[in-house]
Amino acid sequence: MTEAILLVGGKGTRLRPLTANTPKPMVPAAGVPFLTHQLARARAAGVEHIVLATSYLAEVFEPYFGDGSSMGLHLEYVTEREPLGTGGAIRNVASHLHSAPGDPVLIFNGDILTGLDIRALVDTHTASGADVSLHLTRVEDPRAFGLVPTDADGRVTAFLEKPQTPEEIVTDQINAGAYVFNRSVIDAIPTGRPVSVERETFPGLLEAGAHLQGMVDSTYWLDLGTPQAFVRGSADLVLGHAPSPAVPGRCGDRLVLEGAEIASDAKLTGGTVVGSGASVGAGARVHGSTVLDGATIEPGAQIHDSLIGAGARVGARTVLTDAVIGDGAQVGADNELKSGIRVWCDARIPSRAIRFSSDT
Ligand code: GDD
Ligand code: MG
Repeated sequence: MTEAILLVGGKGTRLRPLTANTPKPMVPAAGVPFLTHQLARARAAGVEHIVLATSYLAEVFEPYFGDGSSMGLHLEYVTEREPLGTGGAIRNVASHLHSAPGDPVLIFNGDILTGLDIRALVDTHTASGADVSLHLTRVEDPRAFGLVPTDADGRVTAFLEKPQTPEEIVTDQINAGAYVFNRSVIDAIPTGRPVSVERETFPGLLEAGAHLQGMVDSTYWLDLGTPQAFVRGSADLVLGHAPSPAVPGRCGDRLVLEGAEIASDAKLTGGTVVGSGASVGAGARVHGSTVLDGATIEPGAQIHDSLIGAGARVGARTVLTDAVIGDGAQVGADNELKSGIRVWCDARIPSRAIRFSSDT
């Protein structure tokens, strides 16, 4: 049975303040830490042994997931003393793998929500005889990703991480963050120093004539690296647009976790999730948003495509659109916050303090 490595050591800088207290893979999406969805999908594809490569806030993973047996998995955790980058992290966990040199090993970025057919990627790898196989997807603007042009047979011809110039944008095919490596390729990554698999290992392998195979797949795919994407991903999980066996409830317009209190005339739509111990007051409308545990939405508030952190409070009649409210923050009544605004954890915004329009 194929085993897997999950890369979960990044700092999640672009997600702050969501990642101030919580590493990105542990931020709840559709009611459970995001990583749960990836673990459940890997398990459903037949993967049993998964090694988590941790670094930033490493100590929170193991108390939550333990040895993985409750999910039918065997989980191991390896923490880097200093962040080793994606390639260094992969090499650093090699001694925990059971695979033989020619065996395929799955590797996943820890922030991807996708409907990828994991078995099909392994089958493509085996059938093509590649050294490494990559899941590729097409996006409108590839600049924030690794560009991966392929030839007519799907063989990778170049790997351009985060292209800087227009000439470098040679394709809309990007690295979707799921790989199959032959075990021997992992063992050949240098030890003891940071290595980027995207900037060093892949270009180096191509240079050396290795066979990298791309599998383009147009199933659901989202990198949850920004607050907007994270909120979108959670809503898509709740709506059932993104497939996961780990959504704790039936998919639909809303997901209300046990112990949440929702006023009878509050409206929850568009894949909104409300966490345990949270409350939504009379007449409030919450659309496409994530309300984490213990947060309070006061009467008449209107919330669109936003994330409300654990224990945070949104005052009466306050309007939020595309906003992130950090854990424990307090936004007073009658504010209007929008356009990607980030309110830091535990910050206080008084009533009637910020608007983007007149108050009439
Ligand atoms: N253990 C460990 N140590 N993990 C790390 C480290 C590290 O030093 N650095 C990053 N990671 C993990 C992150 O937690 C994440 O799960 C994964 O490696 C990728 O890092 P990101 O920081 O999310 O990279 P990105 O989104 O900018 O780009 C990557 O993903 C794109 C697809 O979403 C690249 O692989 C791109 O080529 C790709 O297109
Ligand atoms: Mg990412």
